[in-house]
Amino acid sequence: MRRIFSGIQPTGHLHLGNYLGAIRNWVRLQDDFECLFCVVDLHAITVWQDPAELRANTRRIAAAMLAAGVDAGKHIVFVQSQVAAHAQLAWILNCVARLGWLNRMTQFKEKAGKHRENASVGLYAYPNLMAADILAYKATHVPVGEDQKQHLELTRDIAQKFNADYGVALFPLPEPLIFGPATRVMSLRDGKAKMSKSDASDYSRINMTDDADAIRRKIQKATSDPGMLPETPSGLEERPEAANLLGIYAALADETLEQTCGRFAGGMFSSFKRELADLAVARLGPITSEMRRLEADPAHLDAVLADGAGRARTVAEPVLREVFEVVGFLSAGHYRA
Ligand code: TYM
Repeated sequence: MRRIFSGIQPTGHLHLGNYLGAIRNWVRLQDDFECLFCVVDLHAITVWQDPAELRANTRRIAAAMLAAGVDAGKHIVFVQSQVAAHAQLAWILNCVARLGWLNRMTQFKEKAGKHRENASVGLYAYPNLMAADILAYKATHVPVGEDQKQHLELTRDIAQKFNADYGVALFPLPEPLIFGPATRVMSLRDGKAKMSKSDASDYSRINMTDDADAIRRKIQKATSDPGMLPETPSGLEERPEAANLLGIYAALADETLEQTCGRFAGGMFSSFKRELADLAVARLGPITSEMRRLEADPAHLDAVLADGAGRARTVAEPVLREVFEVVGFLSAGHYRA
């Protein structure tokens, strides 16, 4: 059995990195795997979220998944908090994961920054909840961007320790799927910083809600360098902004970085940026308008998500029952998610 689980947090602005690093790859994997795609609102509240914005963002992420081509009839699209198994399994995994393991997580260090003492306990335990998301479905593959790699290694460590501690082979060790020319899309303002939902500068990212004018403006203003465009990817070393923009082009054009370099070899940024903007508008425009159409009908979206949650429960419940039995909890037979 090959089963995919992946998720996106309903926080801040959904951007081109989320699309190229994750959602687009999900769409391509749908033919070969049984898939669960989740809006992870339990993860979102590890940092403060305004309740009305959280609700709107949750629907927006679901709309983006559907607009990009995720098939919610064939696969399962749902919201994390609507399936109790995530929180329940996360508690058990909190008791499996070691403090030393979590202390090594770079994302916690980045997000907590200098105010570590003031970070929520949830932010610290976040990777255990992520492990629960994946393991509650015995997912075998997890398509994500490069930044989630360390969390997936931790998930494998937790699965392995659970299996070893209880002498079972209950959880498969999930494989990360990190592929394509845009596994780490960088900020348009700084080629050394990741494009992120929370960057204060809106010019740092292309949002999935941006219209054609905004996309063109942001690409025109994107930081570049004075050199000409190189003939091969080796010419992109020490040129992070050029590497990022050419990588985005390659991903949107569905070609390799070699092909993109060949196409623009010796050219200037000014004309390359115009072509990149045209391509981005052509690729993202239809998705953005479909997102708007879906968001205008929240009742429909809510119905799709309720159906998805129901189907997700039927997959997670038996796994949780098995876990309860193995751990030694009573009344496993009466468990209801
Ligand atoms: P999140 O919400 O930060 O991002 C969602 C997905 O987008 C990818 N991504 C990027 N890819 C390329 N370039 C970028 N600049 C970029 N920024 C984000 C992320 O790698 C991710 O695939 N912890 C996860 C959500 C999560 C999850 C899970 C994922 C919770 N449970 C279980 C997989 C399986 C997160 O914060 O993603």
